[in-house]
Amino acid sequence: MNETSEINLLNDSLLNNISFVRKQIHKATELCAVVKGNAYGHGIETFVQMLLNNGVTSFAVFSADEARRVNLMLPIGCRLIIMGDLDEAALPWCIEENVEFYVFSFERLKQAIRVSHESGKKARIHIELETGMYRTGFDDTNMPELLSLLDSAREFIHLSGLCTHFAGAELIENFDRIQIQAANFTAGIEEFQKQNLIPQTVHACCSAAMMRIPEMHFDLVRVGILLYGFWPSKEMAIEYSTLHPSEPNPLRRVIQWKSRVMSIKNVPAGSWIGYGESFAARTNMKIAIIPVGYAHGYARSLSNFGQVLIQGEKLPVLGLVNMNCISVDVTLLNDIAVGDEVMLIGKQDDQEISVASFSERSEQLNYELLTRLPHSIPRISN
Ligand SMILES: Cc1ncc(COP(=O)(O)O)c(C=O)c1O
Repeated sequence: MNETSEINLLNDSLLNNISFVRKQIHKATELCAVVKGNAYGHGIETFVQMLLNNGVTSFAVFSADEARRVNLMLPIGCRLIIMGDLDEAALPWCIEENVEFYVFSFERLKQAIRVSHESGKKARIHIELETGMYRTGFDDTNMPELLSLLDSAREFIHLSGLCTHFAGAELIENFDRIQIQAANFTAGIEEFQKQNLIPQTVHACCSAAMMRIPEMHFDLVRVGILLYGFWPSKEMAIEYSTLHPSEPNPLRRVIQWKSRVMSIKNVPAGSWIGYGESFAARTNMKIAIIPVGYAHGYARSLSNFGQVLIQGEKLPVLGLVNMNCISVDVTLLNDIAVGDEVMLIGKQDDQEISVASFSERSEQLNYELLTRLPHSIPRISN
């Protein structure tokens, strides 16, 4: 390992997760992989290539800059959708490259119509409906103007999609709100049909909604977190394992994060370890210094609290997490050496540091911890 740490992406796990997701949907429903946020921290190029190798041909990103990176990798016939931020200056490129994009304001709709007109090629747009999340999308009051604008612009735009997003389907406490959103979306689809505006694909579900509201799958599901091998919430993990006791967790973590021992030190009893006075050695101890700190995404809140695996043993982090390193208690290990593998997230023998345990200890969500892993850590697929 040349770098201080390395992220490995496990292809067998990804293949397992893809087939789990495919089992949840009808054969005709398209699986669109959500790879925004640097593919949830997994490394967008590496992860997209793995998805392509495993037969996934539909991708969703947040912004035009992510789309440019993914588009370079896609063979003809793939679908790429920008769900969020898009500057007017990027519209000609999207249209030229057949990159599809969400439209959730009149401003963007008018821009798309104008640029399509100028370029002589149809923009491939997805109209997003506001159904009760209050983030982005056209609401009821916009409907008459929206429908008439779309109707009059038929020759300039291709209605690639009609979509919405649920506000927290992973938590049962949001049940009523999600039901209302589902009903609102169904009503919105009917309005489009009445106007004879027929979208190529209707879509609404993220991972949690795909699992919980199958009647809302429509033509395409936008799945992120499940593909990476994580449940959208602890509640859903428990729900699944209760309903499927023979296979309580069908998902496999794709990511593995490891480092190595940089230095080893003996510490006499009574000494403070690291900065300040946050940990005192009560007996003679041996510590290993690992070259990973908060600058590399190892949260400072894991000071005196995190755990790593070395030689199959779960060992505690001692003292404060520094910018570039942590100290770990290796007093137990007799033959530890500089260069030994240190597992930060992953398995050694029968021991595991899961992302969930890691993120619970650092009080971060799975999503947050993953996307904060710095881009500079090399991502390697195997
Ligand atoms: C609009 C939209 N669709 C789909 C997803 C995928 O969500 P998940 O990772 O929970 O499957 C997201 C992620 O936040 C999103 O913003």
